[in-house]
Amino acid sequence: MNDKNNKIDLLDMTRLPEHVAIIMDGNGRWARRRAMMRSEGHAEGVNSVNRITRLSSDLGIKYLTLYAFSTENWKRPQTEVDALMHLIGWTIRKETPDLVKNNVKIHLLGEIDRLPESVRADLEAGRHATAGCTGLNLMICLSYSSRWELTNAARKIAEKVKNSELAPSQITEETIASELSTSGIPDPDLLIRTGGEHRISNFLLWQCAYSELYFTPVLWPDFDNEAFIDALIDFQNRERRFGMTSDQVSVGDKTEPTDIDSTLAQI
Ligand code: FPP
Repeated sequence: MNDKNNKIDLLDMTRLPEHVAIIMDGNGRWARRRAMMRSEGHAEGVNSVNRITRLSSDLGIKYLTLYAFSTENWKRPQTEVDALMHLIGWTIRKETPDLVKNNVKIHLLGEIDRLPESVRADLEAGRHATAGCTGLNLMICLSYSSRWELTNAARKIAEKVKNSELAPSQITEETIASELSTSGIPDPDLLIRTGGEHRISNFLLWQCAYSELYFTPVLWPDFDNEAFIDALIDFQNRERRFGMTSDQVSVGDKTEPTDIDSTLAQI
């Protein structure tokens, strides 16, 4: 048995996160360290995307959300934006048959209308081809930012109030969540950021309210199966309290099924 398999053996398969979100950072530095172009770092990053998608699918993780291009990334040099757009379209085209084979369903989050038409066509074709898949949900965030998403949600709710479909007093957390692009999808249990920075960078700010955060210095192109398993093991060693005390959580674990919602309602 090799090291990688040994690491997998350390995972508790009954306590895997249902939803993992990843800020894939470090492609540029990976390339610079090798005197390569930044776009070559992004191309290498695609190998990590494929690897981590495959492992997530094999492990039975239900949702994998990848921050592939932020609203702020439009400010990068046009040559880099063009290279990234081309790479994203090409990757989806190339990988779709494998995604279908592995029962992976593509979801797109963000202002997809801002993407070049040919990339939108590739993405739509990928989404259409995988629409019937029932395994891993691969959520690709493109031209996405949390503030954009929350502003959008506020606008939609304001419209409903204006049209008397909703009273201000009826606005709940669920109302807001239902207007986000992640509506119907459970919040991430684990948020991973590669590349050594300790920031959330406008990513899933609402949804990550109770996510476990994992920061690693490993650059995204170097983020291999072992590095991912390390993050999952770290997650499994955390105690998720959702605002409760440690005693409450362990009582829930040991003597009765954990019912976090009803316990929270009593606080
Ligand atoms: C951040 O590294 C990475 C990005 C802005 C792009 C990530 C996109 C991919 C890997 C392609 C994904 C494709 C699909 C289809 C999901 P950086 O450039 O900010 O790195 P640096 O901090 O070292 O400069």
